[in-house]
Amino acid sequence: MEKTNPWNNIPLDDYEQHMQHKDVAQSQLLNSLTNKYLQKHNPANILFLGISGGNGLEHIDVNNVKRICGIDINQSYLEETQKRFGKKIKQLELVNVDIGTSNKSFIKADLIWAALIFEYVDIERAFGFIENNADKSANLIITIQSNNGAGSVSQTGIETIKSVKDIFRIVDRVELQNNGLKFGFKLIGTEENTLPNGKSFITYEFAKGINMPNS
Ligand SMILES: C[S@@+](CC[C@H](N)C(=O)[O-])C[C@H]1O[C@@H](n2cnc3c(N)ncnc32)[C@H](O)[C@@H]1O
Repeated sequence: MEKTNPWNNIPLDDYEQHMQHKDVAQSQLLNSLTNKYLQKHNPANILFLGISGGNGLEHIDVNNVKRICGIDINQSYLEETQKRFGKKIKQLELVNVDIGTSNKSFIKADLIWAALIFEYVDIERAFGFIENNADKSANLIITIQSNNGAGSVSQTGIETIKSVKDIFRIVDRVELQNNGLKFGFKLIGTEENTLPNGKSFITYEFAKGINMPNS
């Protein structure tokens, strides 16, 4: 895997401490969003893009899920996720791949969960990867960060996390929505959640082939 991607140089411990910092509090919010959309869609085959350390996997209904595929560019994150959840979730398959360059198919998912990864990849290529890994009918949940004037990476005293600033960019909502349409995903819902430091997360709910109100 490409070692020059800054995500390969950030220890998982550093990333998680940063995300759990009281001024950032992003882990807690992402955890509850994961729970919410899992409950809402009750998926059989799930794809997690940028699964990191598996935040939220405890909400998986192991009795109803057939396959769960977790993708990350950082192999050491996947190893830790396997240690944390492998025994409890037998359906978990973890794959070390760059969604910005790969066009391989690993799963036909009916729920795709992409939290805070579009900031680091080419939007069209990421949708190309999703297209190859989505079922004919699927829900796609994308959470992006809105800085509302604050810096891209919050100050938490964790130095290594700053290296991702070089590849971070705010996701353009129109570009996201247009690419969604191009790949057959229609926007069916949006929510915004504000964080302690004034930033917010915007979550877009897309659907392909199902649940298409007003279509
Ligand atoms: C900001 S973190 C979000 C992690 C997790 N979704 C969460 O909500 O905490 C971005 C994650 O995406 C992974 N990532 C970044 N670029 C990637 C790429 N091109 N392909 C696959 N994974 C990538 C990183 O290694 C990291 O685990």
